[in-house]
Amino acid sequence: MNQDILNSGFIPEVICEQLPGGFEDIELLAEELPKVLANEQITDRVSKLEIEKDISKLSLSELERAMLLYSYIGHAYMWGKSKVENVIPIQISKTWYEISQKLDRPPILSYASYALNNWKIADPDKPFDVENISIMQNFLGGVDEDWFIMIHVAIEYEAKEILSNLKSYFLEKNLDQSYLLKALDSIRKINSIMNRMPEKCDPFIYYNRVRPYIFGWKNNPATPDGVIYEGVDAYNGKSQLFRGETGAQSSIVPALDALLGVTHSNDPLREYLDEMRLYMPKEHRELLNGLDEWSNNERTKLNINEESVEIINELIKEVHTFRDKHLEYARVYIYEQSLTNNSNSNIVGTGGTPFMKYLDKHLQETVPAND
Ligand code: HEM
Repeated sequence: MNQDILNSGFIPEVICEQLPGGFEDIELLAEELPKVLANEQITDRVSKLEIEKDISKLSLSELERAMLLYSYIGHAYMWGKSKVENVIPIQISKTWYEISQKLDRPPILSYASYALNNWKIADPDKPFDVENISIMQNFLGGVDEDWFIMIHVAIEYEAKEILSNLKSYFLEKNLDQSYLLKALDSIRKINSIMNRMPEKCDPFIYYNRVRPYIFGWKNNPATPDGVIYEGVDAYNGKSQLFRGETGAQSSIVPALDALLGVTHSNDPLREYLDEMRLYMPKEHRELLNGLDEWSNNERTKLNINEESVEIINELIKEVHTFRDKHLEYARVYIYEQSLTNNSNSNIVGTGGTPFMKYLDKHLQETVPAND
């Protein structure tokens, strides 16, 4: 496994802001997406796109941007019309599929596109801060949609502190408490960022204007048989079932679980979380699989003194606090909204899980291994 990722966290070092020549029609449609969606012009606009693009010369960061743009346009096409169709037209499907093969994850909007590769610093002369993040691509746009993503990005940005310090302590076996104390400081910062979600993301707006566009086609009553990617030979005309975008595709929490020795007994959410790794960038997926193996085989061999065990338990308590707040958000932003709204009232997450029960179970399991 490439442990070095833990030094910099899961945000890519280079984020492409514009594709090179040849992709002008895609860039333009993506930029105009909020208005195209408001005017219900998505079908017409997609039909005018060039059928297939040459992606052979794109760098990794350009491929990520291409994946982001095709994913936004693909989801706008699926969920931005009054009547849902189960065919993605060839103008989107062919190139989207080609890019997905190069990036080794399915042709669907994933967290890596929605959050990790979708921001820049608003004012480069000012330090990083939640308010200094500028989200590049939107569906409808607006402060609630931006803020929902900004909170995720700010958490990912801070996470490099906790991840790099836990790497030094556990993986490099520098069993010095200072690393754990720095990690504790970092997870507390993460929790204070998490607490800020309601400041500018309103539950009603999230439920009705943000969330509808990020659903996938698996376990979704709107697409019971999945979706056909027109003209993609490898799929042979067969419908595909892929999960939607969700924070469960962030690598932070699974990495923390593995490093801190938190385990979850089998349940549908755990199976789903394992499946979520297929939607993560390949290096993140490989790192998490390597960390799990380390956690199962090497972690208990470490000679950790009692004082350090206490700090590790404090760290686990903070992950518990994170999951507790997260469960509150799942309740307030989705469950309670579903009781008062007629729209998209199926009570599964955007990733497609019956989440309330299992998020709570994972919260209860976030306890020290020897408890
Ligand atoms: C309004 C805010 C949020 C809501 C309503 C929400 C909702 C959900 C839901 C419903 C799930 C279950 C899986 C699914 O079907 O999608 C989930 C999973 C998850 N989300 Fe969020 N989420 C929010 C914010 C965040 C943030 C800011 C993060 C930070 C990266 C995050 C990280 C996760 C993780 C790690 C899981 C997997 C569950 C676990 O390991 O305990 N979420 N989320």
